[in-house]
Order: sequence, then C-alpha cells, then structure tokens
Amino acid sequence: MADELVSTTLVVRLANCILRPYRASDLEPLCAAANDPAIARYMRDAFPSPYTQEAGLQWLRICHVEGLPPVTPASSPPDVNFAICLLDGTFVGGAGLRALGTDGTDRYTREIGYWVDRRFWGRGLATEVAAGLGRWALSSAGRRLTSDGQPLQRIEAGVYAGNLASAKVLERAGYVREGVRRQAVVKNGVMHDVIIYGLIASDLDKDAHE
Ligand SMILES: CC(C)(COP(=O)(O)OP(=O)(O)OC[C@H]1O[C@@H](n2cnc3c(N)ncnc32)[C@H](O)[C@@H]1OP(=O)(O)O)[C@@H](O)C(=O)NCCC(=O)NCCS
Repeated sequence: MADELVSTTLVVRLANCILRPYRASDLEPLCAAANDPAIARYMRDAFPSPYTQEAGLQWLRICHVEGLPPVTPASSPPDVNFAICLLDGTFVGGAGLRALGTDGTDRYTREIGYWVDRRFWGRGLATEVAAGLGRWALSSAGRRLTSDGQPLQRIEAGVYAGNLASAKVLERAGYVREGVRRQAVVKNGVMHDVIIYGLIASDLDKDAHE
C-alpha cells in the first residue's frame, strides 16, 4: 500500500476522541501543545524540544499532509500517525504506530506512541487511545498497515521508568508488562530503564471473556 494512502485515509473513531490524519491547519495547535517540556520529557529525541513552527511543519510533511511537500522517512512499511481530536474537533495530541526493524523480521509488530496536550491530561484520553488504537491495529483494519496484507500480531510500547502516567495508561488499556530494558535510553543526559508493554490478539480475547 502506498504511504500516502496509509497516512491520509485512516480514521479511528473512539468514544471521546477521533484519531484522524494530520491537516495543515493543525500546525498552530500542534506547536502550541507540543512545545511543553513536560511532553518531551518522556518522548524519544525525535520529538523536538523546543517544538518550533519549523519542527511542526517538518512533522506535517513527514505525515504527508495535503498541500505540503512530502518528506518520506526511511522506514518501510510506513509509520502511521494520527492527530487526536475531541469530538468537537479540538486538537489535543498525537498518536502513532511505528514500524520496527529494517529487515522485515518485525513486520507484524508496531510500537505505539501517544501524547496529550497538558490541558487535557487526566480525562482518560490516552487510555482510550492506547486501548482503541491497539485493538484497531490488531483487528482486520491492521492488515492495511502491512506490506503483504497479513494481520498485525503485536503492539508494543516502551515507557521510561519514571513515566508513571504512561505505565498506568498501558496497564489500564490491557497491555501486559513484559519486562525491563535496563538503562536502555539516555534522555537529557540521564540513563533510563525502559519498561516494555505488549498487546497481542489473545490478550483481547481474554478481555472479552472476563
Ligand atoms: C502519558 C500521557 C499521554 C497520559 O495522558 P492522559 O490523557 O492524561 O492519560 P489518562 O487520563 O488516560 O490516564 C493517566 C493516568 O495517570 C495518572 N497519573 C498522572 N501522573 C501520574 C503520576 N505521576 N503517577 C501516577 N499516576 C499518574 C492520572 O491520574 C491518570 O490516572 P487516573 O485516571 O486514575 O487519575 C500524558 O501525560 C502525556 O502526554 N505525557 C507526555 C508524553 C508521554 O509520556 N507519552 C507516552 C510515552 S510512552
């Protein structure tokens, strides 16, 4: 499937928010919300801090937003990135599924990532996104994300050990804590353990029978 199709057509509707492709009009709210050290603190360094207009524009180009010259990142199959919006359309954050590895061995796995504008923390939005996007990706919809149309088998997340809010989000969303990658990342000059959470299809079946 072409990158463009993946990045511009997918919409995931949840109870209190919608995951939709980014638009050029997201630039201002995106930069305003993302330019917050409390957001960048537990994100990979690929998430810029400070989050300038230029950084926001680059991100929208990576997401192949209509009307902007696209930038194609090296990963294949493509990542899929969503703006998180309230039902009234307010932009409140971002979520995505990142492909792992380069030789295809990880092709049925994606890493989930999400962040929420600080003004909207504590309303259950990230929990809804982690649960809803994970379930969506493991459903037949996820076949649209793999190069051979096979279903995705696993969604995982790596949480820096101090990020208690995100660990709580994943646990509430049904992800299983699988282990710790000790001292795996450096963020702002400090080493962090990374807690690995995973969600596979049989975890969803378990939910349904409980
Ligand atoms: C992590 C994040 C996405 C959570 O978003 P959110 O929409 O506020 O999440 P939710 O409301 O679904 O749940 C958060 C829970 O963590 C709790 N929480 C927040 N800070 C906490 C802390 N320091 N210790 C323990 N629990 C904490 C909240 O109280 C809430 O639980 P509750 O509903 O029982 O009160 C948001 O804080 C964020 O954007 N952080 C920066 C980016 C980030 O860390 N992304 C994830 C990378 S793995």
